[in-house]
Amino acid sequence: MEPVCVADYEELAERTLEPGAFGYYAGGAGDEQALAGNVEAWRRLRLRPRVLVDVTEVSTATTVLGTPVSMPLLVAPTAIQRLAHPDGEPGMARAAAAAGTVMCLSTLATATLEQVAAAAPDGARWLQLYVFRDRGVTRSLVDQAVEHGYGAIVLTVDAPRLGRRERDLRSGFRVPEEITVPSVAATGRWAGATPLELLGAIDSSLTWGTLEELRSMSPLPFVLKGIQTAEDAALACEHGVDAIVVSNHGGRQLDAVAPTADLLPEVVEAVAGRLEVYVDGGVRRGGDVVKALALGARAALAGRAPLWGLACAGAAGAERVLELMRNELELALALCGCTSPEQVSRAHVSELHNP
Ligand SMILES: Cc1cc2nc3c(=O)[nH]c(=O)nc-3n(C[C@H](O)[C@H](O)[C@H](O)COP(=O)(O)O)c2cc1C
Repeated sequence: MEPVCVADYEELAERTLEPGAFGYYAGGAGDEQALAGNVEAWRRLRLRPRVLVDVTEVSTATTVLGTPVSMPLLVAPTAIQRLAHPDGEPGMARAAAAAGTVMCLSTLATATLEQVAAAAPDGARWLQLYVFRDRGVTRSLVDQAVEHGYGAIVLTVDAPRLGRRERDLRSGFRVPEEITVPSVAATGRWAGATPLELLGAIDSSLTWGTLEELRSMSPLPFVLKGIQTAEDAALACEHGVDAIVVSNHGGRQLDAVAPTADLLPEVVEAVAGRLEVYVDGGVRRGGDVVKALALGARAALAGRAPLWGLACAGAAGAERVLELMRNELELALALCGCTSPEQVSRAHVSELHNP
């Protein structure tokens, strides 16, 4: 049976992938409260449809950091995509380009920045950055991003240490030796790794004070991913970053945190229009994206959803997932009486209430 929604793709991916790999993709930290909470929080919100609006023509197109995209849904950076399918990150880049949206490439990718750029030369791509203690490697990644047409640097700030992912501990998951992570290989010898070992070379000493050093490595727009409070959102504004992603890393870092949908209003209020706010975590439906827009986000990102598509059918599968989410988004906009993402307002979502 042809999968018709993200949940169908997830089910099929579970049957397709080796259990350790599926657990790595699906799992979260600790009791997986943040993971489940992210999904539930979007579900808890209710859209407020407006009627008798001409919705013959509805466009899902918008811009992020000035880049035109077909929809306010971007591909979040997720590590080691070759584990899902041999198409890997080049395949995901092709899928994002075909769907007309941004592919955010993880530092822990299993292809080089050049290979990913070559796979989809006309696609929009951003580089997610983990900063290695070996600054030479980090500088080289940023230089490659500039050279190969990446449009932004997305610094992930919620993982100075790896969250405790118990599914991986139980399964003893290791990245197979034959799947190389070039950035990590550049920091030393590569012989496969556990997720903990993968992040072993990351610099956990970064502070607001050292941000400028990283930003000055390139002229590219600079995004912080992993902001979860109004306080840090305000600091991001003061430090002049271009955008932030409200994110708890898909529930994979600190488990006892609020769902990102619940945090969005306080962050949007603190930012007060000074930079673009994106959100990720638990986005499984196009309607979730409309809710994110209603709460003040410029766009949402999806991590697992396109990964499930990639796992099921490579680049074509990831593209189908992005396309189905775009269709859901278009339908939700139309039924809310909006002909574009810009028309979505706070009035399109009901107030938060306890479950
Ligand atoms: C398997 C997997 C690997 C991930 N790898 C990275 C990564 O390398 N860098 C990063 O910034 N975020 C990473 N993330 C977090 C995603 O960018 C994103 O925040 C999260 O997946 C959003 O939640 P969702 O999966 O519910 O959409 C990863 C998430 C998953 C599921």
